[in-house]
Amino acid sequence: MLPLHIQEDPKPVRRRWLGRPLARWIVLGLILIAALWLLAPVHLTSPISPLQDEPTTATLRPPVLDNALLWNQRASRVRDSYLHGYNEYLKYASSHDEILPLSEGWKDNFNGWGVSMIDSMDTMWIMGLRDEFDTAVRVASQQNFTIVSSTYAPFFETVIRYLGGLLSAHALSGEATLLDRANDLGNRMLPAFDTPSGLPRFSVNTATGQTALGWTGNAVLFSEATSCQVEYKYLAHVTGRAEYYNKVEKIMKTMYSANVSNGLFTTRWDAADASPMNNHFSVGASADSGYEYLLKQYLISGKTEPRAKDQYLESINGIIDQLLYISPRRQLLYVTDVVSGRPVYDLQHLSCFLPGLLALGAHTLALAPRDKERHTWAAEGLAQTCWVTYADQATGLGPDGVQFDDQSRRWVDVLAEWEGGGRKGGVPPGVADVPAERAAERRDYRVSSSVYLLRPETIESMYLMWKTTGDVCWRERGWAVYEALEKHTRVEHGYAIIRNVDQVPAETSDDMPSFFLAETLKYLYLLFAETDIFPLDKWVFNTEAHPLPIFTWSREEQELYKITS
Ligand SMILES: *[C@@H]1O[C@H](CO)[C@@H](O)[C@H](O)[C@H]1NC(C)=O
Ligand SMILES: *[C@@H]1O[C@H](CO)[C@@H](O)[C@H](O)[C@H]1NC(C)=O
Repeated sequence: MLPLHIQEDPKPVRRRWLGRPLARWIVLGLILIAALWLLAPVHLTSPISPLQDEPTTATLRPPVLDNALLWNQRASRVRDSYLHGYNEYLKYASSHDEILPLSEGWKDNFNGWGVSMIDSMDTMWIMGLRDEFDTAVRVASQQNFTIVSSTYAPFFETVIRYLGGLLSAHALSGEATLLDRANDLGNRMLPAFDTPSGLPRFSVNTATGQTALGWTGNAVLFSEATSCQVEYKYLAHVTGRAEYYNKVEKIMKTMYSANVSNGLFTTRWDAADASPMNNHFSVGASADSGYEYLLKQYLISGKTEPRAKDQYLESINGIIDQLLYISPRRQLLYVTDVVSGRPVYDLQHLSCFLPGLLALGAHTLALAPRDKERHTWAAEGLAQTCWVTYADQATGLGPDGVQFDDQSRRWVDVLAEWEGGGRKGGVPPGVADVPAERAAERRDYRVSSSVYLLRPETIESMYLMWKTTGDVCWRERGWAVYEALEKHTRVEHGYAIIRNVDQVPAETSDDMPSFFLAETLKYLYLLFAETDIFPLDKWVFNTEAHPLPIFTWSREEQELYKITS
């Protein structure tokens, strides 16, 4: 830890070698400014920060310097928060999965392999917490990923949290033992793919290789079928094992050839023959990262798998056309589930990753002008709404689900009217800034699930909006969320979920999910850190916020894995 004790360093002001007071103050001022800049936590402790900015450059642009200092201090505050949560976890729940922050207890809800540690190793690295990271590497190197005979590791969660966490920590640090552990875990999870269709089973016993059905029976959720590609393809690349690639690409081929309309995949698929099992479309639970990974597997492979990009565009345009609605009075743009052809008029917190995905796509893909415009608007409007559902509440934190007025209309219809009317005002419907509304009856929605589960999606989108637009409002909003987190969720032993976001003082509940350390605090830190640690053309975040480096398939790999571009 390198806290900002800059003002306490007395040395520079005691120097006597400058005679003239004015010159002395100028020089001392410059030295102090340079010291502040250099001591900014991101520069000192972020091991992959390039440190290419000369302090002298910064002193020529004082306003930028002031802001840089402020934002780096804010990043530093987030690191303190991480340490508070993580140290309490170590104290009361070490070697278990998650701390119960109110009862000083623990739970093993993800195989008992210490998920809070492995899931957030890359957070430690990014924040420059080397001692914590080195200890975690030692612990992880002892982990054999076996499980008692009667239990099963859930495939999806194990892949995104543990496998993604190990691969990212390895990519950042180069620690060989982490890749060895990732390879072992990836190998142990392979039996999941042994189904007639290749769609993965819900869970695997990593000691015996037996698989089990989950709460959905024989149905495989869309998100679970197509949210292992980023991890397994990267694992194939770094280990050279074709099997990893082939298993997950088989799923993609199945999905590419599925008979879907508008690029929309229903939420449930039959593991026996990969046929759709319901008529429910969503970008929230059961679907979310399925769409996210269409874009991300294209990006992580250095844009060498164009089929994934084509599917992303078809699907995201289907989402924009069919699932985006706008509320009647406040003109809030949102993404709803559609069941049997009817909109449900809901917005899940989980769906608030979508604006970030749209922003990332619009930023990284060569889109047709029409697509670029619509994707950018949709990103902006949806991010606004996700933020507004936070700003409206007494705590400043967002509810897990809201139900909109059923007078809402399909966004593309309203958009067409606006365009037909000559684009009045210049700002499309659903995209303008909307002030917070404290009166529940004037919000255009009612809260259907009032809990805040320390989830990351809205902050993740703020991070991507900031990176792609440069609009500082996203940082400021992120800071407001951070302050609300500190005020309402921080407890003596970490952070706790809260029951009702619109009630103060907030009533906490006994949970601190691993994604709070892995995702929520990481995205906040990256939102505030001045250094662009993960340029969007070099890194891709898995759906658990684990950054992995973009690579390209070599000619040998293309032949070995039969990759056709
Ligand atoms: C794996 O590690 C656990 C806990 O450290 C230990 O109890 C178990 O015996 C190990 N299993 C194998 C097969 O090494
Ligand atoms: C594809 O789905 C449509 C309805 O969405 C149906 O009419 C058609 O028969 C299906 N085609 C195949 C090959 O299953």
